[in-house]
Parts: sequence; C-alpha cells; structure tokens
Amino acid sequence: MKTEYIKTDADNIDLQAIKKAGRIIRSGGLVAFPTETVYGLGGDALNAGSSQKIYEAKGRPSDNPLIVHIAQFDSIYKIASYIPPAAEKLAKMYWPGPLTIILKKTRIVPDETTGNLPTVAVRFPSHPVAQLLIKEAGGYIAAPSANISGRPSPTTGEHVAVDMDGRIDMIIDSGPCRIGLESTIVDFTCDVPMMLRPGYVSQQMLEDVIGTVEKDPAVFGEASEGVKPKAPGMKYRHYAPRGVLTIVSGKKADVINLINDRTAKNSSKVRTAVLCRSENTSCYPQADLVIDMGDDKNEEKIASRLYDSLRKCDEENIDEIYSEEFDTPGLGLAIMNRLIKAAGHNLIRV
Ligand code: TXA
Ligand code: MG
Repeated sequence: MKTEYIKTDADNIDLQAIKKAGRIIRSGGLVAFPTETVYGLGGDALNAGSSQKIYEAKGRPSDNPLIVHIAQFDSIYKIASYIPPAAEKLAKMYWPGPLTIILKKTRIVPDETTGNLPTVAVRFPSHPVAQLLIKEAGGYIAAPSANISGRPSPTTGEHVAVDMDGRIDMIIDSGPCRIGLESTIVDFTCDVPMMLRPGYVSQQMLEDVIGTVEKDPAVFGEASEGVKPKAPGMKYRHYAPRGVLTIVSGKKADVINLINDRTAKNSSKVRTAVLCRSENTSCYPQADLVIDMGDDKNEEKIASRLYDSLRKCDEENIDEIYSEEFDTPGLGLAIMNRLIKAAGHNLIRV
C-alpha cells in the first residue's frame, strides 16, 4: 500500500488535506494524525472492519481495546449508555485534553473496537488537527498510538513513518506532540473511579475535581503477581527500544558510578547510550551517545523527550541503554510507568 504523507501546521491547517483524510476514514481506511499526547492511528470507530484493520497495521492483539476519539462533548451520548456525574464533571474540567474515560458502551460501538469489552474508552483531544479530522471523519475515530505494537509511541510524523509507511493510507504530520505521553485513563465503571494508566492529568488533578480516585493495583505495583490490569494494554511489554534498557536508581554519585562502570566495561562492539539530566551530561564520557532529558524543574520536557530519546537510540544502533530515574513530583509517575515498561522492569537500585 502506498502511504500518502501530508504536512500541515496546527495553526494554519490545510483544510483540503484534512477533508481528504476524513473521506479516507469514512470509507474504511486508516490515517495517522497528531494529538497533543502522541500520534494516533485512526479509523472509523463505528466500523468493525476499520478496527480490525487497525489491529493488523499495528500488529496488535485484538483483545486490546481502542480509544474512541470525539470532537464535541455531546458525541459521547451516542457511544456511552451511562455517564456518571463524576465522569461528566471530570470531562468538563479536562476536555478537550489528555484524559480518557471508560464508560459502559452502547450497541452502536462494535465489539471489535472495544476488544469485546462491554465498556468504551472515550477521549476528546485538544489538538486542532485531531479535532478537525474527527469532525470530517464523522465524529468517532478509534485510535491507538500509531506505533508498531510494543515499540515506543510516536511523537513526530517521522516516527509514524518509520513504523507505518506502507501499512496505512495516510500520515498527517503537524510536528512534535506537545505532551509526548499518552492520556491518563480513568475507569468510571467501578464503584470508586480508578486510574488505569497515569498521564499528564495526575492523580492529584483528578482528585481535586472528583474526590477519591483509586489506582489499578496491577499497574501501580501494589498487587501480587498474576493480577490482571483492567486496561488490557497495560499487560503487554511496551514502548521498548531495540537495545537493552536498564534504569539505574539511587544517590546521584552511585548512579553515575554504576553507569560509568557498565559503559566502560563494554567492548567497542557494544554501543551504549545514557539518558540523563542536563546537569549530568558530562558525567558519562564512555557512552557512545548521551541524551540530555532536561531537568527536574521542567518535567514536561522530560516527558516530551522520552519516546523520541528511545527511538534515537534505535537510529544510532545502540545495544545497551542506561537511564537515570526520573521520579519527578507531578509527571514522574507517568514517566516512570512508561520507562519501566520500556525496560521490561529491568531496574537496578544502587
Ligand atoms: O493519548 C492517548 O490516549 C493516545 C492518543 C492517540 O489519543 N492513544 C493511546 O491508545 O494511547 P492506545 O491504544 O495505545 O492505548 C489505549 C489503552 C490501552 O492500554 C487499552 O488497553 C486501554 O487504553 N483501553 C481501551 N479501551 C479500554 C476499555 N474499554 N477498558 C479498559 N481499558 C481500555
Ligand atoms: Mg499505545
């Protein structure tokens, strides 16, 4: 399949291109598009065949449900059979934005879109290109992140092209995503709302609006082995670069020592990279690649650089990647959730 690649500015949108993209989705095709979190791989959410195509293009297991993206609040009534007042309150506060809510679905949403679950994940993104595309496509776009399953999520059009060229009809490139980590997911089908995936909207920001929010124990490490996460996607290894990623946690000097030890021991055949804070970039002279992730005072920058950094390691054919721990106060939970999964839980405490 030939993939059409279109560039458009978010503040000067190429209307004709988006209209064409909308027609592709309405006729059952797939278009990758920017959102404020990561690039999505979009198909018509109400068309079972489109959802099947999404799973194929991503190489994703079809028991892993898709998020349905809408571009006006009222669209929710057609796909959700019940919206608890707390869900509505939260959505009114953080939509459009990086928040996904899980609700009971109506029959119009195909089982293929929800991985056979009786619930549907709904998100109203704030990116103007996403909003326009959703409207042009008929109001409901199912979109997982536009990466091959298991790889780091794409935060630029180029990332999408690396994974999806030849697999989908069109890619819309509007430059880097502002946030760079996927949306926060909150489930409203349980007694107490439960956060299933951390994101830019923190637990504190949720609780400020609706009171107590629990965290899925299977995701946040408080449960014993074998407990299944409520968001099926959270059980898979994810976000992984091709090289072996190790996170090193501990006092600054100890972390630097251990990483230097590891990068020094390796033969010249093994290419190494380090993901570190700005202040530490000169501390790893032995590594082939040192990536400046920003500093703790600007955790948004760290978040937005994460996936790009992991992909850069792939481009540079890195075999071993060592990362400092980025347990910053607000976004640290989301950053470390992704980093730990990317590392396959490979974490050394020194
Ligand atoms: O920021 C985002 O949310 C991005 C952009 C493109 O909007 N999308 C995204 O989609 O991250 P995806 O498919 O990569 O992740 C969706 C997650 C998966 O872990 C999936 O299992 C979970 O949401 N999910 C979807 N529907 C669900 C449902 N009905 N119940 C529980 N979890 C659900
Ligand atoms: Mg994903």
